[in-house]
Amino acid sequence: MSVKMASEEWGNLAVEEPRSQDEIEKKAQDLLSQMTLKEKVNQMAGDLSPVLDGIPMLWAYNYRPMTAGENKRLGIPGIRFTDGPRGVVMNHATCFPVSMARGATWDIDLEERIGDAIGVEARSLGANFFGGVCINLLRHPAWGRAQETYGEDPHLLGEMGAALTRGVQRHVMACAKHFALNSIENSRFKVNVKVDERTLREVYLPHFKRCVDEDVAAMMSAYNRVNGDWCGQHEYLLRKVLKEEWGFSGFVMSDFVYGVHDTRSSAMNGLDVEMPFAQYYGGKLKRLVERGIVPETVIDDAVMRILRQQIRFAQVGDPQRYGPDSVASETHLALAREAAQKSMVLLKNDPTTGAEKPLLPLKIPTGGRLALIGELADKPNTGDKGSSKVRASHVITPLEGLKVAAKDFEVIYDPARRIESALETARQAEVVVAIVGYTYEDEGEYFTKPFSPVVGGDRQRLTLHQHDEQLIQALAQVNSNLVVVMMGGSAIITEAWREQVPAILMAWYPGMQGGHALADILLGRVNPSGKLPCTFPRTEEQLPFFKSDVDEIIYGYYHGYRLLDKSGKSPAFPFGFGLSYTSFNFSNLRPESTDVPDDGVLKMKVDITNTGDVPGEEVVQLYVGSQGLPVDSPLKVLRAFERLALQPGETRTVEMSVPAHELAYYDVQQLSWVVASAVYEVYVGSSSASSDLLSTRFHIA
Ligand code: BGC
Repeated sequence: MSVKMASEEWGNLAVEEPRSQDEIEKKAQDLLSQMTLKEKVNQMAGDLSPVLDGIPMLWAYNYRPMTAGENKRLGIPGIRFTDGPRGVVMNHATCFPVSMARGATWDIDLEERIGDAIGVEARSLGANFFGGVCINLLRHPAWGRAQETYGEDPHLLGEMGAALTRGVQRHVMACAKHFALNSIENSRFKVNVKVDERTLREVYLPHFKRCVDEDVAAMMSAYNRVNGDWCGQHEYLLRKVLKEEWGFSGFVMSDFVYGVHDTRSSAMNGLDVEMPFAQYYGGKLKRLVERGIVPETVIDDAVMRILRQQIRFAQVGDPQRYGPDSVASETHLALAREAAQKSMVLLKNDPTTGAEKPLLPLKIPTGGRLALIGELADKPNTGDKGSSKVRASHVITPLEGLKVAAKDFEVIYDPARRIESALETARQAEVVVAIVGYTYEDEGEYFTKPFSPVVGGDRQRLTLHQHDEQLIQALAQVNSNLVVVMMGGSAIITEAWREQVPAILMAWYPGMQGGHALADILLGRVNPSGKLPCTFPRTEEQLPFFKSDVDEIIYGYYHGYRLLDKSGKSPAFPFGFGLSYTSFNFSNLRPESTDVPDDGVLKMKVDITNTGDVPGEEVVQLYVGSQGLPVDSPLKVLRAFERLALQPGETRTVEMSVPAHELAYYDVQQLSWVVASAVYEVYVGSSSASSDLLSTRFHIA
């Protein structure tokens, strides 16, 4: 591993003192003016060779940063790309829980700290660019890369993506991806997503805009088409919306290898960098400029965007923190454990027959036995093995975590290859913990590797594997103290067995410290506080249409909780839902004023009391809706949230605010945002279920 200090890394761009905006501009202009056309065009593509680097990469992907635009003559280091989002994909970096799990923490501060750790590790491993702020909206839980994003809601996605960006950008450039509407995996290279303007603006783009407002350095275009045009050459998305309307000052990078289709269209329509090799840019782009087909001003604009960001980041960071010891350091492992603890969602926790208290946290008598069942209990199951794979040097499995934690009881393990054998083990124990769910073989990035079978891709089922379902049903018959722990990247349908078990915990892919975190939760050393970042439906019929192998699909306005609210149906577990070992009471919801000007701010207060007998954390969620708008609209949409910790008996008043302009709808006639004068309902509580929400009204004048 080579660790370089700041000045060496940044070549001619390094400075002692931070540069002002004007100085950055001057420096970029100065470099641009010294470049030949060939050098300019070189800035706009990955430096890798398709043959010399591309072929070895099939076996050793993401071992080193992938560079673009290195220019030794002018001392420009170029972009040194590394991937994410589960952590840094090089060396043995810290493997955090996947983004969907982190979405379930609803913890902005934690996500920023994870971003900071990722930034430190990226820099320590020679990268200056992190391509792992994945904020595609989870429209349907079968999406193979669901685990790489933060859930189904634009507000949650935007806030989590912005937090990761803030943390990462203390050290390296961050890149938000995949712009836009990339949420079917197997068809990603061909699918045309059709979407109307209002849906695009209100549902699929707000979280990207949020990251642009956070000053994210780069945006990666998606592979798919939107309304007929490839995202890597989409004039409307790249030029008009992103760069002109939103004022994005960073650069746009293509998704890798298959993200560009035409030299002229991509260059003209705002794609600044082709990754990771020059297939359509490089010499081809240079010739188009020489023939006058692509104006040199277009090239200059792209190069300036790339240079500005590199110059900006050459002065960012904390060199003392970079080095081999920072990679997977004790502090970062502790952070991975904290994230796993906060991300696990307690879905069900009933008393078993005859008992008074809920089954969890487990109370195992001294000298008693815990039967741990299922192959996944003994597997390092950290998620997808595609571009987001992080190579942790050691993953704490549930088996290891529970064994370490079991001070005065015994853990007996059965992988349950044969259900009969698992039942035998379960009969011998006071409590049974079954670990079930998915692996990288069931869901993930879609790869047809040479000489090996297809892995990952979109999920072929939303229920557990049949073996898991049969196992749970059989275990429930022999030992009623049964906890089902599910692993996976998004929603799982539990209808076949949910009523037969007292306790269910969603553990996602919990990262390299997941086994410790799981033991912490099961044994009550940590109180669960995760909340679902996506709806867990009862049936597939509760979801929008999804097809994995598809050439064209329409993305409508409704999905997730908005769709269920609209159709009046109730899911198995609602968006925002998650239980605790304590209970919370919400009361006294009050707006500061019931009349809010259209350029004003809605301010709400609510009191929350921990009514149980252990400390706990709760996520206060605020939704707003109006049925008085001139357009069809959802019952409610998440607009704010806050996580807080409360001691038993403690009451706190939480103040939340929403600027009125964030309640605007997109008017497709005027092509602009309109804050409608109407009566609005505001709902505040512990989940999106109406039974968990207090409500009141206010009026926008
Ligand atoms: C993925 C991107 C990733 C890139 C580089 C692509 O296949 O879609 O998310 O950043 O590879 O690894």
